[in-house]
Amino acid sequence: MYNIAVIPGDGTGPEVVREGVKVLNAAASKFKIEFKYKEFPYGGEHYMKTGETLPDSAVDELRTFDSIFLGAIGHPDVKPGILETGILLKARFSLDQYINLRPVKLYPNVETPLANKKPEDIDFVVVRENTEDLYIGSGGFLRKNTPHEVALQEMVATRFGVERCVRYAFEYTRKRNKGKKLTLCAKTNVLIFAHDLWWRTFQEVAKEYPDIKTDYAHVDATTMWMVKNPEWFDVIVTPNMFGDIITDLGAMIQGGMGIAAGGNLNPEGVSMFEPIGGSAPKYTNMNVINPMAAIFAAQMMLESLGEARAAAAVEASAINVIGQMKSQAAGKMGFSTTEIGDMVAKGV
Ligand code: IPM
Ligand code: MN
Repeated sequence: MYNIAVIPGDGTGPEVVREGVKVLNAAASKFKIEFKYKEFPYGGEHYMKTGETLPDSAVDELRTFDSIFLGAIGHPDVKPGILETGILLKARFSLDQYINLRPVKLYPNVETPLANKKPEDIDFVVVRENTEDLYIGSGGFLRKNTPHEVALQEMVATRFGVERCVRYAFEYTRKRNKGKKLTLCAKTNVLIFAHDLWWRTFQEVAKEYPDIKTDYAHVDATTMWMVKNPEWFDVIVTPNMFGDIITDLGAMIQGGMGIAAGGNLNPEGVSMFEPIGGSAPKYTNMNVINPMAAIFAAQMMLESLGEARAAAAVEASAINVIGQMKSQAAGKMGFSTTEIGDMVAKGV
């Protein structure tokens, strides 16, 4: 029996989470697993009502669950930064979810904007460090709102934080057993301190993995290769900020936000899974949003819980349903949100 914390969040978050849960329940009954859910109200709506983002008491409670399923956080009436830092980043940091795992996989019958690229060309995984870098919120203003204003935003890399991420990436590449190739994506030619640490750590840890081929690409070049030769990549490991950017590019080449999922992992603690598309306010409550990303997030959750067979069954069913869809874009799928959820659940 697994205890799952559910944070449906804002906009279309609750709609897609509902379908994800539907599929989890279908997998549970097929594979003799049991899920118990507890819903949490956090998000933009809750913030507007109460002034509360993600309180410390909630973090302590979340710690006691086996996994967290997140819909989307984001509200058009809340100033940028409040919900992101107060909820999403707070959860990632305080639960020490130090890996952001983002598979970039083009499924058959999904349209990619890359001409002449096929499912066999686009199948790699980004391992993004998730607790350091420009994301730590360190810095400040000097002489704010004067002509002499100074703004500092600090990029931090620690040996401990980088090494545990790089080590995870090597282990993951080995376990994935596809190309057995790990590419470090950084900017060692300019970020001569932080990324020197990344480079040295990568080289050192690599010695322990003689079966894994290593490669390096600067982040700007990485974006070129992702478009021109995505088939070169197997697993990419990268710092937080670059990972944020390249995984949105990754989401697009795999068919868009309707399908892209990610996991915020604490391999020794509690992890959090989410469709990465955001709250899509304009589609709220229209039953037109694509729940596939949330379904893939649920699949990743099953995998992280050690339910590999259930995860594989969900993926197979999702692939089958994708084969019947007209498009992965909201409103153009040929089915409603709930129909897609029903179909995937039925096929598990
Ligand atoms: C993501 C998002 C977040 C990030 C935002 C919402 C803080 O873009 O999960 O990639 O930058 O990490
Ligand atoms: Mn992002």
